Parts: sequence; structure tokens; C-alpha cells
Amino acid sequence: MQTPPAILVADDDAASRELIEIILSSENYHIVTAQNGNEVLELIRQTPVDLILLDVLMPGMTGMEVCRKLKSDPEFQLIPIIFLTALDQMEDRVESFDLGVNEFMSKPFSPPELLARVKSLLKIKSLTDSLESAFNVVITLGGLVEARDPYTGGHISRVCSIALKLANMLGLSAGETEELEIGCRLHDIGKIGIPDTVLLKEGKLTREEFDVIRTHSKTGFDLCKELDSLGKARDIILNHHEKLDGSGYPNGIKGDAISLPVRIATVSDIFDALTSNRCYRPGLSPKDAFEIMGRDAKENKIDEDVFNSLVACYQT
Ligand SMILES: [Fe+2]
Repeated sequence: MQTPPAILVADDDAASRELIEIILSSENYHIVTAQNGNEVLELIRQTPVDLILLDVLMPGMTGMEVCRKLKSDPEFQLIPIIFLTALDQMEDRVESFDLGVNEFMSKPFSPPELLARVKSLLKIKSLTDSLESAFNVVITLGGLVEARDPYTGGHISRVCSIALKLANMLGLSAGETEELEIGCRLHDIGKIGIPDTVLLKEGKLTREEFDVIRTHSKTGFDLCKELDSLGKARDIILNHHEKLDGSGYPNGIKGDAISLPVRIATVSDIFDALTSNRCYRPGLSPKDAFEIMGRDAKENKIDEDVFNSLVACYQT
């Protein structure tokens, strides 16, 4: 049986809390109540909540302050909040929506309208939850791919950490950096479709086996393409083996078609692959890896600015 959605009702006035509880009792909701802002912040840490009905004018911490705290905390920012308030000025509404409040209802409110808004926000919350869990499944799958191959242990976290340093040096925005990190975490997720006999083969791959390996970027992209929450991280999964001169795979795209975050992921991936131990060879020193990558940069295979930033990283 599904657990009923949990709604937190916060109001300093006992009669108002009771009225809201009576209105919501027509549906199968689990109601918890709080008398002030501090209680809201305590309760929310103890019990999972799907929606908050929040009075604005409470003694001590106001609803606005509670909302500001919750919306700036990644753990709670996706919980929808409805302000229930005696305030009805336009500027109050504007300030509330600026804070990230989802609905604003002035007292006295109509019970059917409150119920309708509660239902609609709970539906959005449940969709957000399923997206979140799909996202977590994908991230977990990315980790599983790495766990299959003992020789690439730690590759994902090293690629992420190099890429984040480069993103910072090259001035990527916070949003681009976040997508870059997710993309690096998932870049080889398509290897989930490569048989162990090829993925874990000791020694050089045959041409046919290499062709099988080359399918991983398209397979990974196909696996994630419907997940809009991954944003441009999907470009990294698809394009991290593309080369600026068009000699890469899977589509042989070139130049401007390859975004800066993808170029950063590619350089980070190549550097870690070259400097890591493999069953058939020890890892190269950073100096030797830079020599090989410097040639790639000169031949317009990898981005020269990104490569120079990587070298600068290791010189400081
Ligand atoms: Fe790859």
C-alpha cells in the first residue's frame, strides 16, 4: 500500500491549524503541525514531508525566513510550499515568488481552492521524486560500470576532479560546471553494454573488439537521452570521444559542434587514461602524457586552450 502524502501545516494560530486540518481530512493525507518557524525546521529533519502550508506572519521566525532557509538547502528545496497569509499586497506576492514559494493564498481562502492547489503540488512533487530516483539510478549505473573493471578503479572520480579544476580555470558557469560533473560521472555508462570478454580483455584489442568498445558513447547516450534532468551532460556522454578535426567517434563531428564542456571532459578523460596503469602497460608520467597530448593539440584533435590549462594545473 502506498504511504499517504505528508503535509506539514505551520501556523501560530490553533484555530487556523484546525481549520486546515478539517479541510484536508477529506483526503488521505498524513498531517503534521507546527506552531512556529523553528518547529518547521526541526520537524522537517525528523520526518519526510511532501508539501508545506506555511503561515507568513508568525512570532519569531516569519514564514518568509523559513522559506528562504528551506529553498537554499539542497535537501529541502524541492518540497513545494504554499503561503497562507493575511497579506494580500502585490509586493508581498512578488517577494514570496522571488523566494521560491509555489503558491500564495490570502486568508480567508476557499476550501475547494486550497484542496485543488494541494493536489496539484503533490502531483508535481511525486513526479519530481520519480525523476530524482531515475537520476540516482543512472548515477549508480555509472558507478557500476567502473566497478566491473578493476583496472579503471577511481577513473570516474579522477576525471571529475580534473574536469572541475579546468572548468574553474576556463570560467564555466555554475550550471555548465554541474552538467560537466554529471557528464564526467556518466561518460562511460554505455560500457554497461560491452561484454566482459572485450571490456576486461588483457592485452591489445583486435580491430573488431575496438569497434565494439566504440559503441559505448552512443549506447550511453541512448540510455540517458530521455532524462531531461541530465541536460547537456548527455552531450558529454555522446561526444567525449569526438575530435576537433572530425576524426573521432561516434559521429565524426568537428570544431564548434563540440562544446567547451565536452572538450574539457575529453582532455580530462584522455589524461587520466594515459597516466593510469593498465593490465598491458604501466601508466605514463604526466610529462610523457603531456607530450602525446601536446601533439594531439597541435594536430587540432583536442582543444589547445583546455590542454594548456591542464598543463598549467600540474605546474602550480
Ligand atoms: Fe569513453
